[in-house]
Amino acid sequence: MPLVSMRQLLDEASAKGYGVGAFNVNNMEQIQAIMEAARETRSPVIVQASRGARAYSQDRFLYHLMLAATEIYPEIPTVLHLDHGNSVETCKSAIEMGFTSVMMDGSLMPDGKTPSSFEYNVEATRTVVEMAHAKGVTVEGEIGCLGGIEDGHGAGLDGLSHLTDPDQAVEFVKLTGLDALAIAIGTSHGAYKFTKKPTGETLKMERLMEIHRRLPNVHLVMHGSSSVPQDLQDIINQYGGKLKPTWGVPVEEIQLGIRNGVRKVNVDTDNRLAITGAIRKVFSEKPEEFDPRSYLKPAREAMKKVVALRMTQFGQAGHAGDYAPISLTQMAERYAAEPVTV
Ligand code: G3H
Ligand code: 13P
Ligand code: ZN
Repeated sequence: MPLVSMRQLLDEASAKGYGVGAFNVNNMEQIQAIMEAARETRSPVIVQASRGARAYSQDRFLYHLMLAATEIYPEIPTVLHLDHGNSVETCKSAIEMGFTSVMMDGSLMPDGKTPSSFEYNVEATRTVVEMAHAKGVTVEGEIGCLGGIEDGHGAGLDGLSHLTDPDQAVEFVKLTGLDALAIAIGTSHGAYKFTKKPTGETLKMERLMEIHRRLPNVHLVMHGSSSVPQDLQDIINQYGGKLKPTWGVPVEEIQLGIRNGVRKVNVDTDNRLAITGAIRKVFSEKPEEFDPRSYLKPAREAMKKVVALRMTQFGQAGHAGDYAPISLTQMAERYAAEPVTV
């Protein structure tokens, strides 16, 4: 089947009460790892590429790898999503290339670190919604800012400085007509999210639940959702890495989120850790190896294991065959029939 609209995947997930992992990719092995995990667990899937990923891969390569994925895995509903689009222009170029979903992250200015005004965010997101929906493409927006700045998306400081305000969230959804809403509840990108296992003081699940109560029909998105498992940290450090002690988002908190409106769960760091650990292990145990396949194969396998586990934990496993794809043309017609009225 062709690449599908993210809105369709999230609507289906909402109807059945599960979450869908959105996994970041930069290269062929990561795409293969995700697609193999999806086939093994029979999961619909969201594959996402950041601006950095598009630049690293020369995005036409990435796009054609994704077309190959739809040919090789025709039974898997697959979305190609732009992660953290920093401007209307970035979203436009992704839509023109064939991405079936885009994130307009107007919570930050185009530099990816300065928190923006509410008005700026509404204007940028609304513009992208109009442009994207005309082509049946899905739009994710963000209100509130993640903490940290490790990978170039975040407002710095701790994750608590720019939590999502529920009143603003309601207003933002009404004014933009978006399909999915990313919220800030204390997480940040990267490996160093929390200095100890998060509690209600540092990971604000209550805030998420309040937003869901106020917006029961809106698909919520949790960014910074890697769990940073101790075993993956240990493999890296055992083979010469230097990760400092750290905690991620416990899977049971993500599952609580899924019971409260979270439909898209963003995971990148856990896969980076899995890949790095597997490569370090080969380098350390077999220093005579120099064929890239000798370490890229175990790296791909390690990432596949993490992704398959998350697919099962988020509940998307077993749902790949539940529905036939709605074309982007049909999606555009649906949007046209229900225009944003504000
Ligand atoms: O949003 C953060 C993702 O982990 C992507 O990170 O910008 O380094 O590709 P990146
Ligand atoms: P992690 O760094 O926790 O994997 O978050 C990824 C993310 O939110 C991508 O947008
Ligand atoms: Zn993110």
